[in-house]
Amino acid sequence: MSYQIPKGLFDILPAFQSPNDLWRTSDYWHYVETKLRYLASLYGYSEIRTPIFEKTELFTRSVGDTSDIVFKEMYTFEDKGKRSMTLRPEGTAPVMRALIESRSLHETPYQKLFYFGPFFRYDRPQAGRYRQFHQFGVESIGIPDPEQDAETIAFLYHCFESLGIRNLVLRLNSIGNQASRSEYCKALKSYLEPHKSHLSEDSQARLEANPLRILDSKDLNDIEIIKKAPSILDCLDSDSAAHFSRLQQLLNELRIPFKIEHNLVRGLDYYNKTVFEFTTESLGAQNTIGAGGRYDGLIEKLGGAQLPAIGFAVGIERLLQILIEEPSLLPPLTGPMLLLLPMGDDAKTKVLSLSSVLRKHNVPTEIFFKSKKVQKALQHAEKIKAQFFGVLGEDEIKNQSIKIKHLSTRDETLVPFDQLPNFFERRPNYGQS
Ligand code: HAM
Repeated sequence: MSYQIPKGLFDILPAFQSPNDLWRTSDYWHYVETKLRYLASLYGYSEIRTPIFEKTELFTRSVGDTSDIVFKEMYTFEDKGKRSMTLRPEGTAPVMRALIESRSLHETPYQKLFYFGPFFRYDRPQAGRYRQFHQFGVESIGIPDPEQDAETIAFLYHCFESLGIRNLVLRLNSIGNQASRSEYCKALKSYLEPHKSHLSEDSQARLEANPLRILDSKDLNDIEIIKKAPSILDCLDSDSAAHFSRLQQLLNELRIPFKIEHNLVRGLDYYNKTVFEFTTESLGAQNTIGAGGRYDGLIEKLGGAQLPAIGFAVGIERLLQILIEEPSLLPPLTGPMLLLLPMGDDAKTKVLSLSSVLRKHNVPTEIFFKSKKVQKALQHAEKIKAQFFGVLGEDEIKNQSIKIKHLSTRDETLVPFDQLPNFFERRPNYGQS
């Protein structure tokens, strides 16, 4: 009996296993994660980790029970206590739940948090769309001003820039406040009503429950009809309109190019005012690499204080799929600095103590215990991308020194045992395995 990974899931593998999709290489995941963590610290964000499942009501209440995510895509199960639980489909609601529950917003009503982790949505898998995927997300709580929107978008833009990703389009919209949105929904409904029979089945159902969602439709017929729909920007309340215009001014000042898309509504019900997404042409249909928006009413809706907030999340799979298109954007895959091959039991003892000293000097060192065959050890060294190689036997123990071979230049240097840490510490790439 052999087992296969469930549909829509994937493994992240070390480089030496040569995953057939390079973006699934764990070294690249580390690289991206380290970079994004560093950038988050530059902007004053601290890490938060929440569980991967929550009570189902948290998502129905926040993401919205007419949204596709809640309606079609949640992994919901009953636990042994007959409580309905859901694998988190997104991170914003759990983070708000955690903040409200810990009462930390009472003491610190201004907070900036980031998270990394797996999320789960049951959708038809395709390139760029998985049933378990990973997000880097940030949430900034407490500031209602457009300056916070600008800083948040600038942060996301900086993330892409710093990873070397270019040619992204920032799409921007404002969906106003609750009242202006209801007003707009009425206008949209009266525009769509006469076209009802031509709309897709999904959109016909949404016409009653949540007409705004129709603007998100990927159905070609729907898209044609939507083209002439009224614009939400014509229905904005004065506060949202002023907020949106100041945000555009700030983005211009920051030299962040954007495109206003009045049909951009996003698939989560908690947004108000600013919504945005970054898209790229290189990803095919699943072309949104990061997205977010303001959600000023969510904390209160979930039982917390009346606090404004804004955030975004980036899909790590999509990010990596863009990066591997241009190999120069990714760091070289390096293995350990040194692979040592011991020849016999005394040599094994010596190699264990030598490598222990080397590791204490931060020199990544591996020992080949598998066989005494130099050819086999060299093949392994190549596979794991070791930079140096050394064989240690009786002669080496007698002379207290070992020949170290640089595997790409083939140069060999005789190094006394007590000089080994020094020999490697001077190497470029040192400690970066
Ligand atoms: P979202 O737009 O649903 O927003 O997801 C954010 C990003 O996650 C997407 O742009 C995409 O890159 C990635 N993503 C979503 N679904 C999948 C999937 N099935 N497979 C691969 N990647 C996927 C949110 O989740 C909000 N919580 C973002 C946010 C934070 N808004 C405010 N704060």
